Amino acid sequence: MNPVKLADGVYWVGAVDWNTRHFHGHTYSTHHGTTYNAYLIIDEKITLVDTVFPPFAEEMIGRMKQIVDLQKIDYVIANHVETDHSGSLPQIMRLASKAKLVCNIRCKEGLLRHYYADWDFHLVKTGDKINLGKKSLSFLEAPMLHWPDSMFTYIEEDQILLPNDAFGQHLASSERFDDQIDECLLMGEAIKYYANILMPFGSIVVKKIDEIQKSGWKVRMIGPSHGIIWRKNPQKILEAYLRWGKGEVQNRVMIAFDSMYGATEKMAKAISEGVKEEGIEFEIYKLSVSDRNDVITRLLEAKGILIGSATVDNDMLPDVLGFLGILKGLKPKNKIAGAFGSFGWSGGAVKNIENMLQEMKVEIFEPGISFKYVPTEEELKLCFEFGRRFAQRIKGASST
Ligand code: FEO
Repeated sequence: MNPVKLADGVYWVGAVDWNTRHFHGHTYSTHHGTTYNAYLIIDEKITLVDTVFPPFAEEMIGRMKQIVDLQKIDYVIANHVETDHSGSLPQIMRLASKAKLVCNIRCKEGLLRHYYADWDFHLVKTGDKINLGKKSLSFLEAPMLHWPDSMFTYIEEDQILLPNDAFGQHLASSERFDDQIDECLLMGEAIKYYANILMPFGSIVVKKIDEIQKSGWKVRMIGPSHGIIWRKNPQKILEAYLRWGKGEVQNRVMIAFDSMYGATEKMAKAISEGVKEEGIEFEIYKLSVSDRNDVITRLLEAKGILIGSATVDNDMLPDVLGFLGILKGLKPKNKIAGAFGSFGWSGGAVKNIENMLQEMKVEIFEPGISFKYVPTEEELKLCFEFGRRFAQRIKGASST
C-alpha cells in the first residue's frame, strides 16, 4: 500500500495490522484487526505526527521514503506515549537525526521512562503553535483521552485534526476514509472503542469537544491514530462522542449472567419475558460464552442492566466477577440495575453483585431476587413479575 493523501502535503504513512485479535494485553478483542496511523506533513519544515507499533516500523518507513528523505525531517510529534504510537520512535529518531521531538511535558516524562533516549525535545502546551511554512500546527492537550499525556495536533490551513486515540476504531481495512467503507461496520467499531476505552472519561470528552468548538477550529477531517479517517462527515463522530460522553441511554435492558446447571438461566429467561411484556427491548448474554468487550459495547446505551449469577463459595461465578470488575473501572453512567441468581446452600452471589453495583454508583432498582436450587413454576412467575417491575421502572425514568 502506498502513502495515502489527505490533503496537499499531508499523507497517511501508517500501517495496517490485519492479524491482531487482542489489544491492551488481552483486555480488548479486535475482531477486525487495527491500524496504527502516522501522518507525514510536507512543507518548508517536514513533520511526522506519531509512529506505529514497532513490528510495523519498516512498513511505515517504506511509505515515508516514497515521499521524503528521512534525514530532512524537522519535527517528530508524539501525541501520546503508549507503545502502539511511540514504539517506533527510537528507530525513527535515529534515521531523522536532525529532528526535534515535539510533545508535552507529561509525554516527555513518559517517553524518557520508556526509551531513556537523549532526544532533542521541544515542549508544547495547549495554545502553542509551530509554523511549518505554508501550514501551521496548533496543539491541544487532552489529558485522560485516554492517558494523562494525550494531545491533539491540528493542521490549521487544512482544518485537519489529528487527535491520536480519540475518535478511533480498531478496524483494519483496505480503505482509509469513512466514505469508502461500510458505515455499520465503522460505527460499530467506533462505539466499541468508546465503550471499552473512553467510557470512564465521558465528562472530559464532552468538555474537550466543547473546547474544540470554542477554540474556533473548523474540523474538516479527523485523522485518529487507529482505523478509518473521518472526512465525509467528521461531525458524525463528534456528535456520537457527545451523546456517549453525556451518558445518553435508550429504553433497553441488558441481562448478563452466568449459570452453573441452568437454574439462573431459567430465571434470566423468565425475567426477560416480564421485560418484554412491558414492551421493552432486551438482550441476554451468558458471560461465560460471550466476548466481554462486545457485551460492554451493547451496555453503553442500555438504560437497564440485570446481572445474574449462581453462587459458588458464597460468591458469584468467576465470569460474572470479572465482568463486574471491568465494568466498575469503566464507571457506567445513567444505569438502573438489579441482580438475580439461584443458590444451593446459603447464597451470597446476589448480595455481592449488588454490593459491586452500588460501588459503581448505579441506581439499584429493588433488592435482588434469588431462589434455592431450581426455581419452581411459582418462583419463575415471581421472576417474570420482577422483570415487569424493572421494565416499568425503565419506562418511568428519563432517558438521560
Ligand atoms: Fe493509547 Fe492507541 O494507544
